[in-house]
Amino acid sequence: ARTFALIPAAGMGKRMGAGSNKQYLMLDGMPILARTVQTFEEADCIDAIYLVSPEQEIPFCRSEVVERYGFTKVRAIVPGGSERQHSVYNGLRALEDIEPDDLVLIHDGVRPFVSVRMLEEACAAAREAGASVVAVPVKDTVKVVREGVITETPPRETLWLAQTPQAFRYDLIRAAHDEAAAAGFLGTDDASLMERQGKPVRVVPGDYRNIKITTPEDMILAEAFLKEMK
Ligand code: CTP
Ligand code: MG
Repeated sequence: ARTFALIPAAGMGKRMGAGSNKQYLMLDGMPILARTVQTFEEADCIDAIYLVSPEQEIPFCRSEVVERYGFTKVRAIVPGGSERQHSVYNGLRALEDIEPDDLVLIHDGVRPFVSVRMLEEACAAAREAGASVVAVPVKDTVKVVREGVITETPPRETLWLAQTPQAFRYDLIRAAHDEAAAAGFLGTDDASLMERQGKPVRVVPGDYRNIKITTPEDMILAEAFLKEMK
């Protein structure tokens, strides 16, 4: 069985508030999205890569990321949708020659600190369990707040921060997305669509450096992580 990577990069970066889409902001001379794709290109466990981009940016994505860095595993750039879930669903429906027991690794285009180790471990866990999510334990105490008042403090040892990659057998994640679309359910990650069907999702150790670049402070963190890695 083969492993397909699906990288959603069709967001508008509203919380970053930069003039352009954050996936193309430069980190040490290289666009964030290109750094992300590079790790998938290097990982032997990945057979093919599909990117999801806003439709009008597909030519830019092809020239500034795929062609500029010579990524040979990128098979297609698929137009995105209005929410992340729609973008992923478009991508899932665009995967060519995929078999039910092939794996799909879904990874945010704006998480450039993903490692080959995470890709390998996420794949191995999804082979065994059908689905896996890279995650880290929360460090702070998390409160449930309603109308400015705390209503609950869930025990911290049960709380994890879900990152990506999230890896799935294709038949399972395709069925979960089909069902969510039919029900009008919108989740903020892909694992949640499997969870609502009662399907098990295994947790694989992530890394606190595997941040999703979301707000301007995250660029400062990212620069610091890069400096440390040099
Ligand atoms: N994404 C996508 N399609 C969307 C929304 C998001 O492919 N309609 C992608 C983003 O490009 C990003 C990942 O999903 O790689 C995680 O989303 P997020 O961090 O929320 O990015 P944005 O939606 O771009 O940012 P914001 O929510 O601040 O507008
Ligand atoms: Mg978003």
